[in-house]
Amino acid sequence: MNRDFRQIRLEGVTRRFSDAGRAAFNAVSGLTLTIERGEFIALLGPSGCGKSTALNLVAGLLPLSDGSIWLDDERIDALPPEKRGFGMVFQNYALFPHMSVVRNIDFGLRMRGMPAAEIRRRVADVLKMVQLIGQENKLPGQLSGGQQQRVAIARAIVIQPPLVLMDEPLSNLDAKLRLETRSEIRRIHRDLARTTIYVTHDQEEALSLADRIIVMIDGVVQQIGTPQEVYSQPANLAVATFMGYRNLLELDVERSDGERVTLTGPDVRLTGTRKLPLPDGRAWVAMRPEEMMVGDGAGSANTIAVRVDAVEYCGRDSLLDLRTASGHRLHVRATGDYAAGTQVHVHVPVERALVYPQA
Ligand SMILES: Nc1ncnc2c1ncn2[C@@H]1O[C@H](COP(=O)(O)OP(=O)(O)O)[C@@H](O)[C@H]1O
Ligand SMILES: [Mg+2]
Repeated sequence: MNRDFRQIRLEGVTRRFSDAGRAAFNAVSGLTLTIERGEFIALLGPSGCGKSTALNLVAGLLPLSDGSIWLDDERIDALPPEKRGFGMVFQNYALFPHMSVVRNIDFGLRMRGMPAAEIRRRVADVLKMVQLIGQENKLPGQLSGGQQQRVAIARAIVIQPPLVLMDEPLSNLDAKLRLETRSEIRRIHRDLARTTIYVTHDQEEALSLADRIIVMIDGVVQQIGTPQEVYSQPANLAVATFMGYRNLLELDVERSDGERVTLTGPDVRLTGTRKLPLPDGRAWVAMRPEEMMVGDGAGSANTIAVRVDAVEYCGRDSLLDLRTASGHRLHVRATGDYAAGTQVHVHVPVERALVYPQA
């Protein structure tokens, strides 16, 4: 197998499941994607959207129902996992509980019959990389969750795999460790200069780690883009909703002028920006709570009159629960003191009110 591949290509990769008592369905449907050597790819989507299935298809732990996987010109989707030689890191670490840190890490190398001196050298290298020097002889049960996950990462990278696959590796860690381990994963990826596919349901993880994000919903890729693109220009309403555009208003299209669209409702009139063609009639406006501004000045453009329903203090700012006279609910982040019951206005920049056709 070509360990120095330039690209890994997925073409129409599909996995169908048929459970007893449930109609057959595609957990992953027509996944087509080219990953360049050295890239850090995040596969992002809500729980149950098919992320783990997709990763297991790449690893060879599940057979494809349709499609193909290629390393440059070599088709690899019929190869067993050990022939692909990818490194896997799972959510639950999957360490051998009765083996020491070193034994867990060098297991794969011993299985391959590598000479002892070479094994010692490689293990010493990865122990340094994951910062576990001094912990060599402990058992997994004697380590913290973060340390155990670093053993799992060491075990995956010690075989020097051309591709590292990680399935929600941080989800069992507490908030502080999650942040630390996240930076470690990014550093290790850079140091190794290998390719990584990282599965997560956490937008922030994907945004902070990845060169490119693949957003998947219900087994179907919705968008492939840089973190900036996925964050600020979601491809459709479903991606916008998943990416934290919590404020969704269904309104009547009054006027379209290129990308500019003006929409109206009983007590709302907004101009926003569209990327997709809009049918006549109704459309959705999606806005982030942190991209709307609260003020008391009525009359300025693109404002909505609202009443403060509730204030949730968050430290650096507050999350305001707002309601228009006709009952549209909005959430806006704001600094300053606002009391429930007050009348205020919220403003949104035209380019940050994204307009989408009906879902
Ligand atoms: N072995 C299986 N048999 C039947 N259905 C499965 C199997 N594995 C996963 N599924 C279903 O496929 C869908 C995607 O699952 P999964 O890939 O685990 O999602 P994610 O990792 O994004 O949470 C879910 O509806 C899940 O219930
Ligand atoms: Mg999963």
